Amino acid sequence: MVCHLGARRKLVAPCSIVIFGASGDLTTRKLVPALYHLRKENQMPPEFRIVGFARREKTDSSWREELRQALDQFSRTKPVDEAVWQEFSSHLTYCQGDLTDPAAYAKLERQLSAFGSLPLRQNLLFYLATTPSQFAPAIEQLHHAGLIGGPAATGWQRIVVEKPFGHDLASALRLNDELTRYAQEPQVFRIDHYLGKETVQNILMFRFANSIFERLWNRDSIDHVQITVGESQGVGQRGGYYEEAGALRDMVQNHLLQVLSLVTMEPPVSLDAEAIRDEKVKLLKSIRPLGEAEAARQVVRGQYFAGTIGGELRPGYRQEPKVKPDSNVETYAALKLFIDNWRWSGVPFYLRTGKCLPSSVSEVRIQFRPTPYVLFAAQCGQRLDANSLTLRLQPNEGISLRFNGKVPGPSVAVRPVRMNFTYDAEFGAYTPEAYERLLLESMAGDATLFIRRDEVEIAWQIVDAIRHGWAGKPLANREFYAAGTWGPVAADDLLAQAGHAWHEPLIPPHQPPSVRPPG
Ligand SMILES: NC(=O)c1ccc[n+]([C@@H]2O[C@H](COP(=O)([O-])OP(=O)(O)OC[C@H]3O[C@@H](n4cnc5c(N)ncnc54)[C@H](OP(=O)(O)O)[C@@H]3O)[C@@H](O)[C@H]2O)c1
Repeated sequence: MVCHLGARRKLVAPCSIVIFGASGDLTTRKLVPALYHLRKENQMPPEFRIVGFARREKTDSSWREELRQALDQFSRTKPVDEAVWQEFSSHLTYCQGDLTDPAAYAKLERQLSAFGSLPLRQNLLFYLATTPSQFAPAIEQLHHAGLIGGPAATGWQRIVVEKPFGHDLASALRLNDELTRYAQEPQVFRIDHYLGKETVQNILMFRFANSIFERLWNRDSIDHVQITVGESQGVGQRGGYYEEAGALRDMVQNHLLQVLSLVTMEPPVSLDAEAIRDEKVKLLKSIRPLGEAEAARQVVRGQYFAGTIGGELRPGYRQEPKVKPDSNVETYAALKLFIDNWRWSGVPFYLRTGKCLPSSVSEVRIQFRPTPYVLFAAQCGQRLDANSLTLRLQPNEGISLRFNGKVPGPSVAVRPVRMNFTYDAEFGAYTPEAYERLLLESMAGDATLFIRRDEVEIAWQIVDAIRHGWAGKPLANREFYAAGTWGPVAADDLLAQAGHAWHEPLIPPHQPPSVRPPG
């Protein structure tokens, strides 16, 4: 039996989507291809318009033409369906203007009214694909132009904001205050595109729609958990941004803590957005705070130096464009966290993320406790593998369970075997982009997959405490790693303290670099 719980069954009311930052990378690479696919799969509302807003001079047709060309490159399905594109692109219009200029909003208002349909003027999704410093002025101007209403407004108006959401707790608090000065919290949809991934959403289904695993999902059965979000790319042309961010802000504050909260939260009372987000917040609040001493013991940072990935030589971080030659910014972070609640007391959670790792891979590995060794001591000694469950978030999306089996034959030989589920084999190649789901949910008004104000703030508290511990301390030799390795030696030491070791995700073989720290 298939139970439909999600947005595929939701009716989305006619609406206009206004994209601020319409000439930017995110719009071209992600947002418009996602909207095209929603149209292709008949998931857009019966009546809709997409208005692109940016400063550059463009006409409707020149914007459409640029997007059409980009779609050849960025569409997840190829070739582009010309008939669908022609119909879809007739809904696209461009509004040239500066988002600090009141006259531009008056023009936008006229453009929306000219669609000649009340829902297209009243139901408005404002997607802020711009820098965070532009969020507040845009919302203020939208308010003054009568485009964002208060509770008494007719229709609905929502604001989608991109990450990064602040760069520390103080800036996130400020941003939250600014966003909610002219809009209500339920109108604000903060994106973490990780939550749009099918595999990340499946964590809750996997845990709470099956009885067999949830019974083991606690400190009695689980020895420790490892969460890896690795990227094989370096910072490339984004050195300027990365110098201000670093791995902790760029990945841990959002994606890793979100995945951790889904893996460890208590069952929500319902699948409503607030019920799920309440549990995530409760979980984040139970993470044991890291003071300076704990941060020094439990958090490792790293930075890549030159090495090879897949046979290709990669420059070190300090040699990347727009990066200071003596930069101390971390391109890698590994954390050991404890969750002080009844379910998880004493279980270590290891989180790691890094750039220039051997492959781009995200997974959660649940390591169960070992069996008593007595029975197979003669055959395996202390080496009998403990069971583990791996949730592969990307690539090769799926889940595998590793357990021990008897090797066929007359001797009593035991070795680990795997039961493997893959999305491709089970559901075919339907892998929507995260942005498709997130755009659909924001049009439908379901905030489950978006980050609530208090979630953002608690996540920053955790990250700020760690950054505070790092302040003024240069990277040590043991914190450097060669591009193409799984991180610095210091990260191995972090797990070795408790007799653990990182599990290396399965990847195609690459040429390993031979050296470790420079100097
Ligand atoms: N790109 C990604 O994959 C990605 C992923 C996650 C998050 N994000 C976040 O999404 C946001 C946008 O990223 P992006 O990569 O698309 O940036 P981008 O390529 O630099 O685009 C910025 C956009 O903002 C517009 N803009 C800037 N100032 C403006 C102004 N005063 N008035 C009107 N429009 C203005 C620019 O258009 P004009 O110059 O024509 O005005 C451009 O369309 C950033 O906050 C980024 O951190 C991006």
